[in-house]
Parts: sequence; C-alpha cells; structure tokens
Amino acid sequence: MICGRLLACSLLLFATLIFGCRRDLGECNLNGTTPDGTPIDGPAAFDVAYRLTDGMPMYEGQALVQSTCGNGSFCHAPLATGSNRFGAPAGMNFDLSLVCTGDVAGCQTNPPYDDRVQRLNGDQNNIRDWAEGMIQEIRAGAMPPGEAGQRVRSNVPWLRPDRSKLPSIDSSDGQEIVRNWLACDAPAIGRSETPPTEADQLQPCATSDDEVICVYSGPPADLPDPNWSDIYFTIMFTECVRCHGPANDNIDVNPDNPLGGEIPGGANPTALAVLNLAGSDPTDTTNWPEDSYPAVVNASASTAGSCAGQGLVVEASNSEDSIMVQKMYGVQTCGDQMPTVGLLAQPLVDVVAEWVDLGAPLDQ
Ligand code: HEC
Repeated sequence: MICGRLLACSLLLFATLIFGCRRDLGECNLNGTTPDGTPIDGPAAFDVAYRLTDGMPMYEGQALVQSTCGNGSFCHAPLATGSNRFGAPAGMNFDLSLVCTGDVAGCQTNPPYDDRVQRLNGDQNNIRDWAEGMIQEIRAGAMPPGEAGQRVRSNVPWLRPDRSKLPSIDSSDGQEIVRNWLACDAPAIGRSETPPTEADQLQPCATSDDEVICVYSGPPADLPDPNWSDIYFTIMFTECVRCHGPANDNIDVNPDNPLGGEIPGGANPTALAVLNLAGSDPTDTTNWPEDSYPAVVNASASTAGSCAGQGLVVEASNSEDSIMVQKMYGVQTCGDQMPTVGLLAQPLVDVVAEWVDLGAPLDQ
C-alpha cells in the first residue's frame, strides 16, 4: 500500500470528482479509507502491483485494465487500427501505459512528453465515462471478448509487493479490484524511476510534474545471460513476439514458456511483415530461439520497412550499428523505437548490447 504527501494532493483532485457520482459502482476504497476518511475493507485503489518482466509499477486496477484492454497494441489501444482493434470502436481508447519511466535514457522521445500526458489523461477520462459499462461487461465475461480476450485474461504478469500473483480479471477478486478502482475514478501511475534503495521499491517518488503520479519501480527482472536463447525467452518472447509473430491460439507444450503457456502474436501485421521472431512449430516454442536466429543475426533490414538498405538487424560484434539495439535504446535512425509503446528498462537492453558485442552467440 502506498500513502504519502504526494498522493494526498492527487487525493484532493480525485475527491472533487468522486463525491456525488459513481454510485452504481459502489463505494471507493482509496487506501484503507473512503475519500471522506471512513475506514473500509477490501482492495484499495492505491494498492500497487509491478510487472514481472521489468518491475514497472501500476495500481492494481490500472494493471488489470491495461493488460487486458489493449496493452498499447490491440483493441482499446490508440496504436491499434483495423483488425487489431478486434471491433473496439475507434477513439474508445483505454491506454494507461506510463508516460515516462525514469530509468530509460531520456525516457521516451516520441511523441513529446506533453502529448503522452494528454493521452494518459484522455484515456483515463474515457475509462471514467465508460466505467459502469466496463464493469458490467467484465462481470458478464463479455470483455475482453472472444478467443483473443481469453488469451490476455489468463496472462497477468503482475505481482504484488509480497510477490503473489495479481488475481485474473476473470476471478471475483480481480473484478472487485477493478470495480473499486473504477469507483475511485481510475487513478493511474504515470511515471516511474529506479529506487535509490531496495526499501524505496514501489514507494512514491518525487516528480517535478504534479499532474503525474510517480512511483518507484519494483524488483527488476532477473537479467538474462548474454546469449540468444536466454534473451529470447526473457525479452523477445514476452515483449516483442506479440507484434513480431503471427496470431497463435495454441497452448504451448514447452514447459519453460514464461507466459504460463500463452503464445503471443497477431497484434501487428506491419511488424510481422518486417520481422518475424516466431519459430516454425506453432504448438511448441522450444526451438523458437534457434528458428528465429537467422532472421536477426547478420540479417539485412527488411526491404519492406523503413530501415530497408540501412544495415543489419543485428551485426554480430557491433552493437552500435545494429538496428535492433539502436531501436531498443530509442536512438534509431530509421523507423520507430522498440517496443513502440515504451522502451524496456535499460539494464535489459544493456544485456542485449553485451550479447551482440560478444559475437551474438546462439547459446552459451
Ligand atoms: C506494439 C507492436 C510492436 C512491439 C511490441 C514491438 N515492435 Fe518492433 N516493430 C513494430 C512495427 C510496427 C515495426 C515497423 C516500423 C519500424 O521499422 O519502426 C517494427 C519494426 C522493428 C524492427 C525493424 C525490422 C526491419 O527489418 O526493418 C526491429 C529490429 C524491431 N521492430 C524489433 C523489436 C523488438 C526487439 C521488440 C521487443 C523488444 C519489438 N520490436 C517490439 C511493432 C512492434
């Protein structure tokens, strides 16, 4: 649980919005008390969870809605267009990704910071407008819809500070988290930084921008060893294959699948057309690192993309000139940063650069 002077300011902001409305959503537990200070039980809107893969913090309700309603790339995400919206109406965006994570070099650069803040606030307002409908649909099992929805529901890579898993949005516990968070007007963490000490993990951090709530990140993910097989399952499979792989509804038979059997893919045909990071067996990802290796190491950038003719995706022993590494640091000279929706924590990218400079070996 988080409490502090910083949040008290945001509390005041919310209080004006909360009183008198949102009655159908029930009572709001902000942090063990209702907005008027009465003690109350149940999940609190300011309870923080962190993402298993990099320690990025979000409020529990924010994390559940973010990871099931679009995660920056599908359905209710602004970047999703056409069939990637799976029928979500244009403009009905619920993207709550952080506007800036302080530990990545200079944070995101594109679009500019103010635009990202505007996006976050706008999407929070969309969620507030649709709050009653959202909780009804979630309770009825209608959202997220269809097979694609089923897959994102079972994949919740979020932990609580005690390292237990955040309940799924299908469970009554998960739905109560979302209901309460909506009743509290959908507060969202907008910035994060690397904590100065372990004790500061998931505690509020100071920010020069009072509009945006800052919380230090949680424990970082275990760093992969600098070889493709380890990097593949720690980073590529969890962060890149959903755009750079075909749609896949199978449950993986590989027992080491880091997503509990889910095989991501199908979120972005443009990404798939320029770089396919999936392997050949759609039901078993065991050999996917080996299968995808030739598409990456010493492979020319796709003739179909904006990096055509500009060099190699990964040039073994030369991380500086490797297009993939440049994109992961956000210093690319062609196309966009990767992932497009927000850079990974820098220590993870550093391992990728180290791997390239070691000659980009497949295994150790
Ligand atoms: C939200 C979807 C999305 C995610 C997630 C994503 N990408 Fe991309 N990627 C794209 C799109 C769209 C393009 C084409 C535009 C461009 O080149 O910038 C692309 C292009 C690329 C290219 C250029 C390939 C070429 O030959 O031109 C590389 C390399 C790349 N991505 C690496 C990654 C890596 C590594 C990750 C994970 C850390 C990742 N991407 C995650 C959407 C995504």
